[in-house]
Amino acid sequence: MASPPAAGTAPGGYDATAKGLHWLVFVLVLVQFIVSIAMPPMRRGTVPGSLVNLHFSLGVLIFVVVALRWLRRLRRPVELSMPGSAAWERLTAGATHALLYALLLAGPLLGWAAASARDFPVTFFKLFSLPYLVPAGTHAGFTAGDVHSFLMWTLMALVGLHSAAALYHHYFRHDGVLRRMLRSRGH
Ligand code: HEM
Ligand code: HEM
Repeated sequence: MASPPAAGTAPGGYDATAKGLHWLVFVLVLVQFIVSIAMPPMRRGTVPGSLVNLHFSLGVLIFVVVALRWLRRLRRPVELSMPGSAAWERLTAGATHALLYALLLAGPLLGWAAASARDFPVTFFKLFSLPYLVPAGTHAGFTAGDVHSFLMWTLMALVGLHSAAALYHHYFRHDGVLRRMLRSRGH
């Protein structure tokens, strides 16, 4: 039997806004990975073209949407509902969700520091420019770039694991976990 919701958690699960933001981030991250694979490698002498600039703008957008989603989530926590799942499965699911938020918030900041170190201006879809996070040429900024690339490929693996777990719950456990993120429950 599912345990009762903890104090302060939303008993009905994810509301329409939480679901909308979840799938918006999914689409944005999917496009971002396609752009990351298609964009030219960033080396000494690389001139940032339209794909690189799109990578920066999309990354900033993802950061803002995830930050809003996370702040909202702090005010409206939703308890995991995984009927019949072992404690380690709940722990893994909770840790994966926390790690997804952490990577999606820290990753863009590291990317921004890397762009600044490489002396690449960052704009938000050419609407406005962001200031440099570190001075151009800063060693720590180049290190941030290496860490950014590593963490963002790790994020891709984690998204794969998270999606596979959701599909496993749906097709093999038939426990309604995926439906929580899809359908309105009409409460
Ligand atoms: C969640 C959002 C983001 C994702 C998923 C992401 C993903 C990636 C990936 C996978 C790479 C490695 C590409 C390769 O191996 O060739 C990369 C590189 C890079 N990204 Fe991002 N990125 C994000 C946000 C940003 C932002 C916001 C910026 C800058 C404002 C940025 C700047 C860079 C830079 C400068 C590099 C090259 C790193 C270096 O080697 O110095 N990224 N990104
Ligand atoms: C970039 C891709 C994705 C990211 C970053 C992501 C992130 C998250 C996060 C952080 C949560 C925790 C709840 C919240 O705070 O909103 C969550 C929940 C969930 N996600 Fe994803 N997700 C992604 C893709 C997917 C995909 C492709 C599926 C389905 C195939 C999926 C299915 C679910 C389900 C069913 C839950 C609810 C789990 C529960 O609390 O019972 N997600 N996701």
